[in-house]
Amino acid sequence: MIDIKDRICDAVAGKVMTAEEATKFVKDGDYLGVSGFTPSGYPKALPLALSEKGKKTPFKVSVCTGASVGPEIDQAMVEAGIMNRRFPYQTNATLRKAINENKVKYADIHLSQFAQMTRYGFLPGRKKIDVAIVEACKIIDLGNGKVGIIPTTSMGNSTSYIATAPKVIIEVNVTQPLALEGMHDSYLPADPPVRKVIPIEKPEDRIGTTYIPCDLSKIVAVVPCDVTDKVRPLGAIDEEAKQMGKNLVNFLKAEVAGGRLPKNLLPLQSGVGSVANAVINGLVNSDFEDLTVYTEVIQDGMLDLIDAGKLRICSGTSLTPSPEGQKRLYDNVEKYKKYIILRPQEVSNNPEVARRIGVIAMNTAIEVDIYGNVNSTHVTGVKLMNGVGGSGDFARSGFMTVFFTNSLAKGGAISSVVPFCSHIDHPTLDVDVIVSERGVADLRGLTPKEKAPIIIDQIANPKYQTLLYDYFKRACEACGYSQTPHLLTEAFDFHNRFNATGTMEKK
Ligand code: COA
Repeated sequence: MIDIKDRICDAVAGKVMTAEEATKFVKDGDYLGVSGFTPSGYPKALPLALSEKGKKTPFKVSVCTGASVGPEIDQAMVEAGIMNRRFPYQTNATLRKAINENKVKYADIHLSQFAQMTRYGFLPGRKKIDVAIVEACKIIDLGNGKVGIIPTTSMGNSTSYIATAPKVIIEVNVTQPLALEGMHDSYLPADPPVRKVIPIEKPEDRIGTTYIPCDLSKIVAVVPCDVTDKVRPLGAIDEEAKQMGKNLVNFLKAEVAGGRLPKNLLPLQSGVGSVANAVINGLVNSDFEDLTVYTEVIQDGMLDLIDAGKLRICSGTSLTPSPEGQKRLYDNVEKYKKYIILRPQEVSNNPEVARRIGVIAMNTAIEVDIYGNVNSTHVTGVKLMNGVGGSGDFARSGFMTVFFTNSLAKGGAISSVVPFCSHIDHPTLDVDVIVSERGVADLRGLTPKEKAPIIIDQIANPKYQTLLYDYFKRACEACGYSQTPHLLTEAFDFHNRFNATGTMEKK
């Protein structure tokens, strides 16, 4: 068995067993509260062992994580047919297909809200978490029948799952650097009616402990593991993404010049994916200094900002580097640790905190419409892409909310600006600014009819501008210039045309 002696305290030494042995603590119908947020810091050995067991003796469990996790869960468990429900976010192609084929039940939930939802008893069947399964770097003895679990590359919902589950299984992963200890800030908000203010006034404020406390009596197994995080490469920063980064930087400079933002901006929140990473990269090459970040995922761009000496502090819930970024991070943990705090996602994404510290919320849309509504989740309105993630946590509560989109998708067959979004995650109420490679649409305080021409001019691709203007003009005339003009029989023609002909263009 893999040697974990230097990573565990004597108090748990008698609970060490293989993943196969530990599967006996998971029962058919259980809700599993699993660590991990992006392919970082999730358990690997036990999910793989459960999948193997399920192939021989069918059973089903519901999997609650922080967000997306690696293939050992979202691929292996789906392929083994043992995943019943899945919460609250995913990005895996196998799981996405199973969800869209109705083989796995998926509920999309704001990431800041999911832990409290499990505590409130809001899970289907009015169930609570049955077993917490978390990855750890190390387990330390706190005395008085308690141990401290040092998490690895993410915090996610582990603090809450460990606090509430009657059974806890800890995977001690020897591939995770021990030097990660000290990066975390575990904190469990009390629930109403006794909830208190979360006392964060600046992104650098620490409010909890560097370990997650756990009653020794609840720990049923400690499983050694040597499987690495399956971090994914980031898309190359293409010309369009570079241009979006430049457009954002110019916009922010104008906000500073106009006295609406301080010189070092306000805490930045930046979403997942290639576009978000490219946009952060735009800041690396800017004149901004002494920046702060209060976000969810910490991607390579943040490491670049630290290396460029531009970042004071970076608070998030997960380290989500590319394979190259992971090597850079692991080789220099002590250096990066000074700049990084990993918090539970109900704190990193907390709307109360985001509103107080004035986060500049920046996320990516699948499509936007001419009135500024945003679809983040459903391709042509019906097929789930990933999920809403933390975008809604920040969009409603940010100081200013920015959405990015390329003007075109699928080689130009899709216009990312449509007459009416085929699914709405963020109403125009929560959208201040839209940025594409073409320009910036500043929508603050404008009426729907004022927003439409700006979005069509600044964000839409010239290939689709005439069609969009034609729709807007005819809608205004048909509705007598009402508050939000639409032609309800034509509002989804762009999507219908794409489904019928493979392009939104009118031939
Ligand atoms: N219609 C159909 N597909 C579209 C599309 C549109 N209007 N716009 C983008 N896509 C597709 C792309 O073609 C690409 O597909 P592929 O994987 O088959 O190549 C995919 O969506 C990803 O787009 P990409 O341009 O590479 O951007 P991304 O990696 O930045 O991802 C989102 C964009 C919207 C999918 C992603 O940001 C997301 O899931 N957001 C929701 C969650 C969120 O905001 N989380 C952050 C909270 S902190």
